[in-house]
Amino acid sequence: MTEITVTVNGSQVTGREGMTILEVARENGIDIPTLCYHERLAPIGACRLCVVEVEGSRTLVASCHTPITEGMIIYTDSPRVIQTRKVIVELMLASHPDSCLVCDKANVCELRKIAADLEIGLSRFRLRKHYYPIEDVSPYIVRDLSKCVLCRRCVRGCNEVAKRNVFGVAYRGFDSKVIVDLDEALNKDVCRDCDVCISLCPTGALSKVSKRRETKEGKPLIIKD
Ligand code: SF4
Ligand code: SF4
Ligand code: FES
Repeated sequence: MTEITVTVNGSQVTGREGMTILEVARENGIDIPTLCYHERLAPIGACRLCVVEVEGSRTLVASCHTPITEGMIIYTDSPRVIQTRKVIVELMLASHPDSCLVCDKANVCELRKIAADLEIGLSRFRLRKHYYPIEDVSPYIVRDLSKCVLCRRCVRGCNEVAKRNVFGVAYRGFDSKVIVDLDEALNKDVCRDCDVCISLCPTGALSKVSKRRETKEGKPLIIKD
């Protein structure tokens, strides 16, 4: 395979033809935050969190789906890059519910970790928040779309890895949403013994139902993993 030499943050590194900027950076121990990217899925360049500066390019480029070319000069942590990433994360946090302290995924939430790494506390922006009812109809998965960051990892994971195609994306702008069928609550038999989407979700939007009990009144009591 043809070797390609690029310069990342002032150091020359070598990659192989077909590799993306992100892959070369990570192979050389340079961290670039990502959210919609996952190594098990084809990159779509949706969240723009992985942007880097490439000399000669007017705009920042998404490193997760930009292939390297010979002689490329890349900056992964320039002030412009950091500033852009901060704004992206702040906008995500601004429309995210303020429930991190009681969220089941708080310790493993990728959004929280990225925000901490970028030293972002409270968002400067005031945006409308999404409040969707929790979907707990499925015996296997609980969906809380209020915490969804629209990374589409669940959509692609179900499609590319589980080969089930349970999810789609519908509506536009603020109303964009991961849907099931004609925007119905998730409740599919195919989800039995499959937790591909749960394992790929970077936030607390998807969780496993580990036990299902009933309250004294006979109402379902969901205990999440
Ligand atoms: S559990 Fe598996 S089949 Fe069900 S929605 Fe998730 S990825 Fe698709
Ligand atoms: S439910 Fe999770 S994996 Fe799916 S789009 Fe939302 S945040 Fe991403
Ligand atoms: S991680 Fe590259 S665009 Fe989302």
